[in-house]
This record gives sequence, structure tokens and C-alpha cells, in this order.
Amino acid sequence: MASGLIHSLLGLLLLLPWALGASYGQQENIAGSGFLSAFSYEAIADPTHGRVNYVDAGTARSQNLTFASSDTFVLRADSKTTLSASGPGRNSVRIVSNRQYTTGVMIFNIRHMPQGCGTWPAVWTVGSNWPNNGEIDILEGVNDQGPNQGTLHTNSGCTMPASRSETGTPLQNNCDVAATGNSGCGVRFNDGNSYGPALNNVGGGWYAMERTNSAIKIWFWPRNSGSVPSQVRDGATSINTDTWGTPVANFPSTSCPISSKFGPHNIVINLTFCGDWAGAVYGNSGCPSSCVDFVNNNPSAFTNAFFDFAWLKTYA
Ligand SMILES: *[C@@H]1O[C@H](CO)[C@@H](O)[C@H](O)[C@H]1NC(C)=O
Ligand SMILES: *[C@@H]1O[C@H](CO)[C@@H](O)[C@H](O)[C@H]1NC(C)=O
Repeated sequence: MASGLIHSLLGLLLLLPWALGASYGQQENIAGSGFLSAFSYEAIADPTHGRVNYVDAGTARSQNLTFASSDTFVLRADSKTTLSASGPGRNSVRIVSNRQYTTGVMIFNIRHMPQGCGTWPAVWTVGSNWPNNGEIDILEGVNDQGPNQGTLHTNSGCTMPASRSETGTPLQNNCDVAATGNSGCGVRFNDGNSYGPALNNVGGGWYAMERTNSAIKIWFWPRNSGSVPSQVRDGATSINTDTWGTPVANFPSTSCPISSKFGPHNIVINLTFCGDWAGAVYGNSGCPSSCVDFVNNNPSAFTNAFFDFAWLKTYA
């Protein structure tokens, strides 16, 4: 009898992590200058061949390309310098989180994102030895052309079911970069306010990404949304993603072993110009001139090429 009881109790304890399911506690609350301690600058050459010059921390601060106050963190490109065609690209910033993340949730409260012809901003997470530890693009696009696209990039053996519970529109269901010319399995958001000038016009919004071993999910609510969960709006200390409704992008593990395709990830926030994506589709974007010439010769066109984060909160 007693041992039966102990066994039942043990069984309950073992079940507890499952019972909690989609409940998480806050791990980090990153705001203002907190971004400067949680992230490092990467003054590297752009692997996607952009017309950009990523600067180090000292240059970013002296040129005010990053700026922190108590409740804002701004990351921007230079909007003052006309570039020489034979010199380096436009000064901009790429930061990478010091911490690595596996399963859990991250919520980005974004007031403004970079806009302008030729811009290619991204908020994403990535593992080492790309693509073997996977990549998750949360917010990404080019040349002010919304809506947003959420995308996974993996090595071979990760595909998505054609039909799944999400509000966005799948573009491609094979996440293998080798099979898709690097494009991965993207889901197009249906909310026009999810990207660029439209997002900025409504005062930004909240992006959230949940990663478990059974699914990767992305949600978005614009600032004026009547349906943003209070847990998200307030960045609550405890959250339950089961109460958030259908995600915009849902990548289940049905035919993608998430736990082996996705390793520890760093968060990357970057802003590049032209290059493999923005440059390649520039001619169809309605933007003037050619991408590189436009970026070189029109510094004031990048006055609004900045991110403004109210906060980033992570949950585990
Ligand atoms: C910027 O982010 C995108 C995210 O998808 C990535 O593909 C690209 O390589 C990044 N560029 C740089 C220079 O970091
Ligand atoms: C730096 O950027 C911030 C944010 O855009 C702005 O409020 C501040 O006035 C700028 N500082 C200088 C010295 O330009």
C-alpha cells in the first residue's frame, strides 16, 4: 500500500514537466543598456555579400549607431555619409547574444524596425556550423516589402507537413538549405502590419518564438492589436503559450527531428543592405536606381533604418 502510494507520487512527479506543458518562467528581462551587456558586436564581413560595413562597439557608440536609455535600445545604420563606390559599405551593426538558447520562449517588444530601399534587417537565431545546428528567422525581409516571413533553415531531413495549424501561408515545405537554394521553409505572414513601414506606422508590436522538441512556433501582434495576450503585452514573469492562440508560423517535428536539427542558438540582430536577397530582388521592388548605387549615394534615405526595442524577455 505505502509503496504503491510512493510509486504513484513518483509517477506524478515524473509527469509534472509534461503536465506543465507550455508554461514557462522568465529567465531574462533585457531592456535599454541591458542589451549592451547581453549582446556583443560582430564587426565581420557580411556572409551574404551586403553593401555593409559592420562596425565594432566603440565605433557604434561614437557614431550613435547603437543607443541605450532606460527603456529603449536603438540599433541603426549610418544616415550621414555618401559612400565611395570603391570603398567599404554603409556602416551598420550586427549583434549576437552572449547566451545560448535551446528550448524556451523569447518575446521581442519592437517599437520600430529598419525601413528604406535596399535594407535587409533580421532578428533570428542560429547555431554553430551552419546549417547543421539550424537557423530560425523570426523577423526578416527586404526593401520595405512586407509582410514578414518566418523561416527555418536546416540540413537534410527536415520537412514540414503541407497542412498544419497556423495562420500564415507556407511558401516551401523543405527546410533543407541544400534542396532549396538556401531559402529554407518559410511561412508568409498574412498581417500586412508585420513588417517595415506598416509595422512602424502602428508603433511596432510583439514578436514571440517558442522552441520545444515537438514544434517551433512564431506569433506576432501589432501594437494596436485587440487580441495580444496580456502575458505578452506586459512581459509577464510567467507565461503559458497554450493560451496564445494559433501561431502565425508553426513548424512541427512530424517529419523534422527538431532536437537533432537545432542545437544551441544565439540570437542575432543585424541590418545589412543589398546582397544575396535585398540586392537580388531590388529590381522588382519599386525602388529607384540600382541597389548598391542607391545605398552609396543617398545617406538620408536611411534616416529610418533603425530598430528600437522596448525589451526582449526570455523564458525557460
Ligand atoms: C543577416 O541576417 C540574415 C537572417 O536570415 C542572414 O541570412 C544573413 O546572413 C545575415 N547577414 C549578416 C551579414 O549577418
Ligand atoms: C542618438 O540616438 C538617439 C536615439 O535615436 C537620439 O535620441 C539621440 O539624440 C542621439 N544622440 C546624438 C548625440 O545624436
